[in-house]
Amino acid sequence: MTTLRSVRQVAKGLPTSDGAGVKLTRVIGNQYVKNLDPFLMLDEFKSDDKADYMAGFPMHPHRGFETVTYMLKGAFRHGDNQGNTGYLAPGSIQWMTAGRGIVHEEMPNQEDGPVWGFQLWVNLPAKHKMTAPRYQDIRPEQVPEVELENGKVKVLVGNFQGVIGPVEDVVTDPLYLDFHLNEGATQRIDIPGNKSAFVYVYQGSAQIGTTELPERHLGILGDGEGLEVTSTAADTRLLVVAGDPIQEPVVQYGPFVMNTVDEVQQAIVDYNEGRF
Ligand code: CO
Repeated sequence: MTTLRSVRQVAKGLPTSDGAGVKLTRVIGNQYVKNLDPFLMLDEFKSDDKADYMAGFPMHPHRGFETVTYMLKGAFRHGDNQGNTGYLAPGSIQWMTAGRGIVHEEMPNQEDGPVWGFQLWVNLPAKHKMTAPRYQDIRPEQVPEVELENGKVKVLVGNFQGVIGPVEDVVTDPLYLDFHLNEGATQRIDIPGNKSAFVYVYQGSAQIGTTELPERHLGILGDGEGLEVTSTAADTRLLVVAGDPIQEPVVQYGPFVMNTVDEVQQAIVDYNEGRF
């Protein structure tokens, strides 16, 4: 018999802004949830007001980890200093391995209308921090959707009941699922016991064991192999994300995430001298 995971911490996302002034909700990487190895940050950006997002995220560097952008509504375009470009349509996911370094921009590809999506930062272990940069730009139609008895799930990364998501070869072997559950639906999800895992309710509300998770709340899961989540509102939508903890020192200075202060200082020098 497998042990069900319970919620060991509930945290509300905090309003903040980043990039050139994009308003967003920081769910992981704030004062309440510093990080959740291997996850460094989770942001939700959601607005119908172009003033909240039009400034975008102009050219900025990353080194030592991976950024994962999942769009629900609206579109962004992406470009880097190596000439790579990409288009992030609603329902698409971009898994970007920054590795030894990229300099890129992420800008809205629309004049107005709604924007809604998530950016997750996933750490890399020491021996992979200086790997070559890589993009996996996944189009919406490449993401498998599984019909459930009382809802549906998009399998973005990892394995759900034998259905495999399109993102491949990620060191921390993650699971990234987007559930839509009707009111009263109870869904069982297998999550291997070695993984760190969380649930983020981005619409509606849910219950895990005796813990209520209102909208825009994160539930960090405790030990166990399985998860049982019940939707307590009409059309509840939630992310279930898990990954292997890296268990190494984390030294972060903005967009540089390394193991030591010396490595962060080297990243700043390399960036300033144009070696990204
Ligand atoms: Co970026």
